Amino acid sequence: MDKIKVTQELADQLKTTLMDVQQPIAKRFRALFTLRNLGGSLCIDAMTEALKDDSALLRHEIAYCLGQMTDNRALDVLIELVKNTTEHPMVRHEAAEALGAIADPRAFDILKEFSADETKEVAETCQLAVSRVDWYTKNEPESIDNKTYLSVDPAPALGSGVSFGAVKDQFLDGDLDIFNRYRALFSLRDIGDEKSVLALCDGFKDKSALLKHEVAFVLGQLQHRAALPALTEVLLDESESAMVRHEAAEALGAIASTETIPLLERLTKDKEAIVSESCEIALDVTDYFNNTEEFQYADGIKLLSEKSNPQISN
Ligand SMILES: [Fe+2]
Ligand SMILES: [Fe+2]
Repeated sequence: MDKIKVTQELADQLKTTLMDVQQPIAKRFRALFTLRNLGGSLCIDAMTEALKDDSALLRHEIAYCLGQMTDNRALDVLIELVKNTTEHPMVRHEAAEALGAIADPRAFDILKEFSADETKEVAETCQLAVSRVDWYTKNEPESIDNKTYLSVDPAPALGSGVSFGAVKDQFLDGDLDIFNRYRALFSLRDIGDEKSVLALCDGFKDKSALLKHEVAFVLGQLQHRAALPALTEVLLDESESAMVRHEAAEALGAIASTETIPLLERLTKDKEAIVSESCEIALDVTDYFNNTEEFQYADGIKLLSEKSNPQISN
């Protein structure tokens, strides 16, 4: 597919939908994914302006998308989000992760500074991003040809030759630093069989909300039905962090099992806005995977790769 030329008019049109609070959140997300997939400074500007929105879910998704674009023109806005301690922790987390994804050494000092942030998920994300930036200054990026999932991951998978048992142990080792646990997490995702899916589900017993939210995210990428019971349990657990429940909802949307629809519909009334809005997105994604005619997600997929799914946030 030829790359679409982004005009000011097109960027403005997408921005209008993105910022229109009268529109369903799922439609606004579709506009966001289109901006992400198109890329370039006009799209970055439109996305930056939409960071004024009241929805923390939308703002965190914008930060995620800015990271996935790996365009260092988004560096300043992402740094401001990390520094803004009045911003929602999930948004700051995503901005820090995005800085790790862009891997520009100019963000290194900020990431180091906020590695001691009092909000645990922000601190852990900054530690992770520091390790990622450091890793990619010393190692070549993986070839895109070898990747099944086109997301820019917060940590590289472990090299081949590590046994399944060793990967699982590394993933579940709560004494290990977050970067090395994430490396094992992405190895399990890349193995991708039922045994790996169930090992990933074991991660939901962990103390780190950050690790658990990433587990839910990769389970969404894997779209494996063996994860349905664990994801459902996490989504239903009101004592769980909203960030984790949000990813569980969207992962259920990506698995797109019709039997999950009543649960997602019910939780569009959840008292936590991040969760209720995520269920709306999840229903939209479920609908997309069951009827693939819709323009925005389909367009995004073709622009990224036939192998990719809509890649809702992590
Ligand atoms: Fe997310
Ligand atoms: Fe995240």
